[in-house]
Amino acid sequence: MLIENTCLQQTMEKIIDENKQGETLVIEQKEGNKRKLFIESYGCAMNFSDSEIVASILADQGFNTTQNLEDADLVLVNTCSIRDKAEQTVRKRLEKYNAVKRDHNPSMKVGVLGCMAERLKTKFLEEEKIVDLVVGPDAYKDLPNLLAEVDEGHDAINVILSKEETYGDISPVRLNSNGVTAFVSITRGCDNMCTFCVVPFTRGRERSRDPQSIIEEINDLWSRGYKEVTLLGQNVDSYLWYGGGLKKDFEKASDLQRATAVNFSNLLDICAKAQPKMRIRFSTSNPQDLTMDVVETMAKHPNICNHIHLPVQSGSDRILKEMNRLHTREEYMQLIDNIKRVIPDCAISQDMIVGFPTETEADFQDTISLMDYVKYDFGYMFTYSERPGTLAERKMEDDVPEETKKRRLAEMVELQQKHSGFRTRQNLNTVVEVLIEKESKKSSEHWSGRTQHSLVTVFPKGNYKIGDFVNVQVTDCTSATLIGEAIGYSINN
Ligand code: SAH
Ligand code: F3S
Repeated sequence: MLIENTCLQQTMEKIIDENKQGETLVIEQKEGNKRKLFIESYGCAMNFSDSEIVASILADQGFNTTQNLEDADLVLVNTCSIRDKAEQTVRKRLEKYNAVKRDHNPSMKVGVLGCMAERLKTKFLEEEKIVDLVVGPDAYKDLPNLLAEVDEGHDAINVILSKEETYGDISPVRLNSNGVTAFVSITRGCDNMCTFCVVPFTRGRERSRDPQSIIEEINDLWSRGYKEVTLLGQNVDSYLWYGGGLKKDFEKASDLQRATAVNFSNLLDICAKAQPKMRIRFSTSNPQDLTMDVVETMAKHPNICNHIHLPVQSGSDRILKEMNRLHTREEYMQLIDNIKRVIPDCAISQDMIVGFPTETEADFQDTISLMDYVKYDFGYMFTYSERPGTLAERKMEDDVPEETKKRRLAEMVELQQKHSGFRTRQNLNTVVEVLIEKESKKSSEHWSGRTQHSLVTVFPKGNYKIGDFVNVQVTDCTSATLIGEAIGYSINN
């Protein structure tokens, strides 16, 4: 579980190890490449995935990655704007680059990528002298040209948002990889315009990636030993391929394009069939866009994990409306009931915001009672952070005092811990299937992996290896981790 005050990460980061924020591990290098790239990522899984695309584009420009700032010819930081704290973290990193450049590496060039680049644009070049290059999330293919400008001693910037770009034709260089789990991006942008959220401004309008290229990426990952993919998008249920172009332009599509369009449920089905032993996850689902077709498709395929990350943000109808979340509390509860009717053991996780403008104690209690109703498996909880340019910033006063926000957050986190413990304990004395991902952080004698419900499970290594699917008899647990003994390979191995 994650709370705002301990970390800057956003929604999908439970699947990115907390301690990987910022870290770069090098696993794929291209022979003959002489220049060195230090690339680090903050924020959501999409940023981590985008950095792999950037590393791939730059590998063709003669760059291999390094973990050492002092060696780097080029430093790139992929940034997050979701909350003020996320931006402050990046500013601190820029200070660090400044010190390294001054003391050890005077020829090093520095570029900013991602949401802060898009939000701040030329302001970055004005405010941060260390920055030579500013590139928005849709402009990474322009990096070779931009770098040529930088090499000539000029600052360079491209923050143009695109109607088409999905990077479907780029084969990512896997960074930070355990060689077992990987992200595959399927949509970019978001059309939802939640009033608190900066993402629609920094990542542009929604567009979907060609299913053929998604399947090719999954097949390639399987052939290289990967066993689990997470399909990524700001709003995956809104996926719609009709030959390219923006989601909002689907109305203008031809009859043939409409008849052959692929929605998210179709895509899941195609992916699950293409690699029937590959575990498939997806994130993030938006309650108003998640259809029962998707849930039925999950139920049909054993390799699609029974877990839905279904942020609700608030349990109060009034606040949901102010947030422009296009569903009610009742509709959300019905959706949960419907999911559990089709998949009784489906894990559900949440994102919540406390202290949205005008939130009263009664609104907050509505959120608490919704949590009691759903008993989420886990969740990511944040205090509201006003973001420049959003509708909430323009129309509403950030009027909930900081202490009230913090108190509500602490109460919420405590309740979530209780619910997580309840869900986790239901696995005691059962056998769960675990995909081994890495050595346990606490003991070199133990493996660590996850169940389909994304529950971390640790057990003695035995003769098993990373990438194996094993059955684990659960003998003990904490509120968020299962502890047990492997009793053999699972049928999926
Ligand atoms: N649909 C996206 C959501 C991205 S933002 C996805 O792919 O996950 C991730 C989470 O950050 C949101 O669900 C929300 O809980 C939180 N968040 C977004 N804007 C915020 C803000 N201004 N203040 C606090 N939390 C925010
Ligand atoms: Fe943000 Fe709402 Fe989209 S939280 S990413 S505008 S679904």
